[in-house]
Amino acid sequence: MIEKIEQLMQEISALHAKNAQEAEALRIKYLSKKGEISQLMNDFRSVPAELKKEVGMKINQLKSLAQEKINALKEGAGEGSATGSSSIDLTRTPYPITLGSRHPLTIVKNEIVDIFSRLGFTLAEGPEVEDDWHVYSSLNFADDHPARDMQDTFFVEAHPDIILRSHTSSVQSRVMEKTQPPIRILCPGRVYRNEAVSARAHCFFHQIEGLYVDKNVSFTDLKQVLLLFAQELFGPDTKIRLRPSYFPFTEPSAEMDVSCTICGGKGCSMCKGSGWLEILGCGMVDPAVLDANGIDSSIYTGYAFGMGIERITNLKYQVKDLRMFSENDVRFLDEFTSAR
Ligand code: PHE
Repeated sequence: MIEKIEQLMQEISALHAKNAQEAEALRIKYLSKKGEISQLMNDFRSVPAELKKEVGMKINQLKSLAQEKINALKEGAGEGSATGSSSIDLTRTPYPITLGSRHPLTIVKNEIVDIFSRLGFTLAEGPEVEDDWHVYSSLNFADDHPARDMQDTFFVEAHPDIILRSHTSSVQSRVMEKTQPPIRILCPGRVYRNEAVSARAHCFFHQIEGLYVDKNVSFTDLKQVLLLFAQELFGPDTKIRLRPSYFPFTEPSAEMDVSCTICGGKGCSMCKGSGWLEILGCGMVDPAVLDANGIDSSIYTGYAFGMGIERITNLKYQVKDLRMFSENDVRFLDEFTSAR
């Protein structure tokens, strides 16, 4: 009996049908009341009790095999399409493919880079693991400047001179030591500061540095470029204001505010009622910095600026917690799928 069942299984697996009628004929042959499988069921009564379990299971297998096979033959024959007997529907709408999204910091960085590329700035890079000279000394930081302090700088253990850069201004020095003016570079990159991680501070973040050195570069040039940049990034009605400030490597130095991106300057909770938001530090490159990096300060002048990408991204997208940028929670990242 088992042999008979196995033989039928092989036979059924190999069946073909050219059309629906043939498939129906096969159904009758195997699965109808008088079909071959029903016959087997009748014979089953005479199977010895100790074999009943095994034979019963085999018959059930055979039955489902036959049903599946004949259903498949019927479907294939019924479609009668150009693809032959296939049951694949080539006209069905495909499942949508979920696309990844760019990280919000990348989106904003690209936008800033685009704006300055149109003004002729090219990209420059420098190492994140730096030496004291490029991060501080070459940029006119006094030996006892507080920024060198343990509170700010990460030192590489066992080497007091090797540090993680705390600003991208180190790339100003890297570029000037190798290149003579005209220099017009933009440097996006990661920087590190020894801060406790919270919603408002992180031990690493991202900056974009700009440097322009040539003959006759003036503060007016700086102001005009920054105004254009702010209006491209935040909209044509954006106003800027420069407040006097201090950086060791620029003189004079300023901090730039833009009119609040939420209230337009009237005063709201975002700008804490002032109507202004601080977005970057800038100034004229200190002649001492030009000289320290091999550029003759009696011939050339320059300006530099530096901004935090997280800060600008927050202003554009109102991200409340800085930690979101580095946790890579896909629910957060998915919100930027349509943002380019
Ligand atoms: N490096 C400064 C900072 O990290 C920003 C800056 C860059 C200021 C260039 C002036 C010129 O705060």
